[in-house]
Amino acid sequence: MNAQVKLVDPHAGLVSREVYVSDEIYQKERERVFGKAWLYIGHESQIREPGDFVLSRMGEESVIMTRARTGEVQVMLNSCRHRGMRVCRYDEGHTEKFYCPYHGWAYNLDGSLAHVTEYEREYKQNGFDFAQWGLIKAKVATLGGTVWATWDPNGNFDEYLGPARQLLDLSFVAWDGEGELEVIGSTQKWQIPSNWKIVAENFAGDMLHVVSHRSVDIVGIGPNKESGRRDASHSAQYVQAAYSEGHAAIVGLFDPKDPRRDYSASAITAEYFQDCYAKRKRVLGDQALISPAVGTIFPNMSFHGNQPRTVLVAHPVSVDKTEMWRQYFVDRNAPKEVKDFLRRYYLRYSGPAGLTEQDDMENWNYATNASKGFMARKFPYNYTAGLGNESTTNQLPGATVEVMGQGELHGRKLYGKWAEYMGEA
Ligand code: FES
Ligand SMILES: [Fe+2]
Repeated sequence: MNAQVKLVDPHAGLVSREVYVSDEIYQKERERVFGKAWLYIGHESQIREPGDFVLSRMGEESVIMTRARTGEVQVMLNSCRHRGMRVCRYDEGHTEKFYCPYHGWAYNLDGSLAHVTEYEREYKQNGFDFAQWGLIKAKVATLGGTVWATWDPNGNFDEYLGPARQLLDLSFVAWDGEGELEVIGSTQKWQIPSNWKIVAENFAGDMLHVVSHRSVDIVGIGPNKESGRRDASHSAQYVQAAYSEGHAAIVGLFDPKDPRRDYSASAITAEYFQDCYAKRKRVLGDQALISPAVGTIFPNMSFHGNQPRTVLVAHPVSVDKTEMWRQYFVDRNAPKEVKDFLRRYYLRYSGPAGLTEQDDMENWNYATNASKGFMARKFPYNYTAGLGNESTTNQLPGATVEVMGQGELHGRKLYGKWAEYMGEA
């Protein structure tokens, strides 16, 4: 029997099941993790013009991402300062102001309070200070079009990312190494009966679970519907990379090969990717040899930086329920045929109907449920694979690496950071 002494012991590679099933711990996470960390909000291509908005989430709470008249991206709590009503109830759209339907307060695009009710004159006579009653605003940072926010007024995004920024810089750029990305379609949203952390750690670099994708590998759902799931234009030299900031990823270190085979669905797709790969090597130089396949930025933003190219945010709803938000990216200037080709590939791979995601969800849902019992929760999860075999590589400065498939360093780093945030380290 395993007597538990700590919630997380990264050195021993053990994590208590309480971390996944205890409501008491979950209630602390809401503020200690989601009230402090930098969280992925969305992508600037969703709000190109001033007045464009989309709803997003920070933990359980609804936030509005919008572009103000100045062009600045704003992230604001979607809760009226008067009596808490949601001031925006549409997932996305365009507006001049956010009008609260309850008593009529209205807010400008930058969150400042524009008007109160028809009794505005009386408010003013009473010395009401409009400047004090704008929407609650989060601190915002952007990277390659991605938008992030934190409630921590002292939060520093560059320090938060640390050297893992290299992976995002390489992922949130067009295939040619310098163009822009855009979100294709709207965000897919669905709920699963799993703790959010199981999702985050899976994408952080769990290569041992490849066994559970055997069926999709056999069926073949890759870009060209041949065997496997991914762009196979690369030699398979991958490592697991993890950072002391809690982020982790599976990263390919290889020379991209001629991509024509994977994108031979039509002459247009083949030519587009071939041109992009050639240009990428010219533009990025040595960095073109580094390809982030899948990773997680602590706490809950997961990204596929190669193919498919997508972001999944595991938003907590309760200790055993997660709302999954998935977005798909294409090169903004790609021909329509290329965008359609990728959209079809992404949808058979990921999302609620995607075959790979279905395999994963089945594991996460059963794992959460089978960890709740009074007996099950006495025994920790095991993240010991690869302990003591960590190394480094010049290609990923600041990362600790393990040979792909042989370790669980990603889990040890992610939960080590989680324990720091929770005051359990
Ligand atoms: S709750 Fe918004 S105006 Fe009263
Ligand atoms: Fe998976």
